[in-house]
Amino acid sequence: MKNILTKLVRDFLVGKKQKFVFSKTENQEFLNRELKLINLYIHIPFCKTLCPYCPYNRVKYEKKLIPDYFNALSKEIDLYFNKFGKIKIDSIYIGGGTPTNAIDELVTIIEKIKNLFDVVGDIAIETTVSDINDDNLSKLKKIGVNMLSVGVQSFNQKYIDFLGRKYSVSDINLAFEKIKKFNFETVNIDLIFLYPNQKKEELLSDLNSAKNLGVNQITTYPLFTFPYSTIGNYMKIKKIVMPKLLKRGVFYKTIYNYFKENQYKMVSVWSFKNSFIDQKYSSVTRDRYIGFGAGAGSRLNDIFYFNTFSIKDYVNTLLKKNRLPIAIDMKITPTLSKYYWFYWRLYETKILDSELNSFSDWKIRAILKMLIKLKLAKKESDYTVLTEKGSFWIHLAQNYFVLDYINRVWSVMKKEAFPEKIDI
Ligand SMILES: C[S@@+](CC[C@H](N)C(=O)[O-])C[C@H]1O[C@@H](n2cnc3c(N)ncnc32)[C@H](O)[C@@H]1O
Ligand code: SF4
Repeated sequence: MKNILTKLVRDFLVGKKQKFVFSKTENQEFLNRELKLINLYIHIPFCKTLCPYCPYNRVKYEKKLIPDYFNALSKEIDLYFNKFGKIKIDSIYIGGGTPTNAIDELVTIIEKIKNLFDVVGDIAIETTVSDINDDNLSKLKKIGVNMLSVGVQSFNQKYIDFLGRKYSVSDINLAFEKIKKFNFETVNIDLIFLYPNQKKEELLSDLNSAKNLGVNQITTYPLFTFPYSTIGNYMKIKKIVMPKLLKRGVFYKTIYNYFKENQYKMVSVWSFKNSFIDQKYSSVTRDRYIGFGAGAGSRLNDIFYFNTFSIKDYVNTLLKKNRLPIAIDMKITPTLSKYYWFYWRLYETKILDSELNSFSDWKIRAILKMLIKLKLAKKESDYTVLTEKGSFWIHLAQNYFVLDYINRVWSVMKKEAFPEKIDI
């Protein structure tokens, strides 16, 4: 049923001609173009403990893996520099894994990027409670990180243990006392909700604890289980397992109302920002980006592509073959590009009239009109914004469709270093 629905929606929006197939990258000619401005993503896949529910491309931290990985990363940056020269970098997002696991090597890489390119924008990084210490924080500050995101997940020891994470509630509080001293412009906390049998009061208690830490942004993800995560393998599931719809609705409403009452602004269907501070922390909504590292995705104009997920092949391709480790790519038509843009604006819950006028077509207008009619969105002075109901449905669509696509690509990429084709 979901597949038929997906196909109908896709055909209506982008037409039957657009193929949703990633093919093995035979040549890298699509990189032969001029580039002036881009965003960067850097993937550091190492984690000290591997959480069983985690779908990301991550491996157990081993000291001996670090030098090769960072030499390869450095080579990858050189190859891009040789192609594009000193381009302007609008933002850098360092994700993982847990990038702070190799802090000194990371410092060297960021310094290299700053020397080679013209970095003008924010530098954001993901980290975890166990990696918060004065040494790491001062190194991050020194390289210009201004946005810090900490994976806390819960303040309830029962759920921290359920996720297999190795810290206590008092470790979380200590970590945030340390963070405060360093005055990062934006600090985000990641929380997970909808644990098996979680009660609404437990969710509210987590939200309160996060708010009381005085951070600028809180991001709340429902726990989803991917088939290729350890939990997924153990449970022998074939699809992503989502929490039940009714409970999900109640929990989403609880979160939405909580942040509204506490004067937080919604900056995406999952993130809420303290209204008194004017910065946001987001990784995925950028239109054009180059991803460095194993498994990193990139989008350059009309091409999406992914590096190989295999750490070994990533390192060998760069260090032995002297070649970029791009595994698969897909061409994007201008129509698809438009809907990609529209999707991310919905994800951010707000579309400015000025942007819409320069971009939209009749289908986007029709969808917006329908959303307003169904009270899923409302028109304000110079923008359209999703209502609580609307953001819940977009959040659900994000889970059903986008995570399903990610699941199809990532599950193959985790098994094969250079697959022939991935049909999504
Ligand atoms: C790469 S991790 C963040 C940094 C660090 N590795 C950590 O875990 O603290 C990105 C975030 O994705 C979320 N996440 C990971 N797996 C998830 C899952 N199965 N369901 C919901 N959220 C998940 C977590 O909130 C996590 O903080
Ligand atoms: S959730 Fe974070 S710490 Fe846990 S395995 Fe995934 S990336 Fe690593």
